[in-house]
Amino acid sequence: MSKILVTGGLGYIGSHTVVELHNQGYEVVIIDDLSNTSLNVLESIHKITNSSIKFVELDLKNSVKTKEFVSSNKEIDGVIHFAASKAVGESVENPLKYYTNNLFSLTNLLNELKNLNKEINFIFSSSATVYGDPKILPITESEPIKKAESPYGNTKQIGEEIIKDLVNSSSNFNAISLRYFNPIGAHPSALIGELPIGIPQNLVPYITQTAIGKRNELTVFGDNYLTRDGSCIRDYIHVVDLAKAHIKSLEKLIKEFSKNYYDAFNIGTGKGTSVLELISCFESVSGKKLNFRIGERRKGDIAKCFADVSKANELLNWKSKHSIEDALLSSWNWEKHIKNEKL
Ligand code: WQD
Repeated sequence: MSKILVTGGLGYIGSHTVVELHNQGYEVVIIDDLSNTSLNVLESIHKITNSSIKFVELDLKNSVKTKEFVSSNKEIDGVIHFAASKAVGESVENPLKYYTNNLFSLTNLLNELKNLNKEINFIFSSSATVYGDPKILPITESEPIKKAESPYGNTKQIGEEIIKDLVNSSSNFNAISLRYFNPIGAHPSALIGELPIGIPQNLVPYITQTAIGKRNELTVFGDNYLTRDGSCIRDYIHVVDLAKAHIKSLEKLIKEFSKNYYDAFNIGTGKGTSVLELISCFESVSGKKLNFRIGERRKGDIAKCFADVSKANELLNWKSKHSIEDALLSSWNWEKHIKNEKL
């Protein structure tokens, strides 16, 4: 059985990926520094999988501890690297935190994996943010990578380059970068989901917190964009579909291990949904009337962004299966779970 290390495995996408890895029979080791999550997530993973998946609290910026961990886990066959800070706005205010946390952790980890001198299959959590404001839609992987719009986006661009250069320089590293569009939704058990700390930056948690009464009203950041209803369009993908894309990527690397393989894939649905469409979809699946108003545009937002996913469909044998309705209903069920459990 392949042993897979999941860094940031108690985070939103990490925890859903751990569950899917377990479901596929992989042995999983989770590391997380608990800076943006809690051990409640580990308990929930144990409940969902009915097994006690190994967890090690570790900050990958600590090179001594990272060396100790990797050298005592030599039998690792694959790594899925989620551990990173991910708030775009915060990265603009505190860029050094992002460059240190996202890049120093990555190079520490890669250094120690390289020292194992064995085949390593590495999946990197990247983001559609690497494309900036796309020229052509839907976005394909050959869309030119533009200057990042935020330090967070820059760490994803640099991260991809670091990994690509490592793969080209070594005979025992293969890697895939997955460029996520907009992850939303929660596990069908409603035991794990997105748990933003403080005021949610992202649209869907803000919607569900408004619907449950935690927030007074949602502000739609602009309805005067050149789109079908004036609000921004995004490619919202169910987090369980996104998690499964990591399994498919791992299978590809493990089964087809070949020298110096590196590639990047868009992971989205291939469909665009506007903010106003998403709100009305939420209202119909939840039966709740959402309190929202139209406000000013948010700095840095782009009008339209959705994926061409044909490359992942073909080469990863992966396709998103859940609808926006599924995703929004799962988010709503998760929000109700948070309230009941006072998380
Ligand atoms: C979606 C749409 C907002 C909140 C970000 C990161 C990206 C990735 C996903 C990490 C936009 C509108 C939002 C609100 C609103 N994260 N909105 N009112 O900005 O597309 O992508 O999250 O990898 O890197 O940039 O997602 O959910 O913040 O916004 O009207 O209160 O919802 O203007 O059009 P975004 P988002």
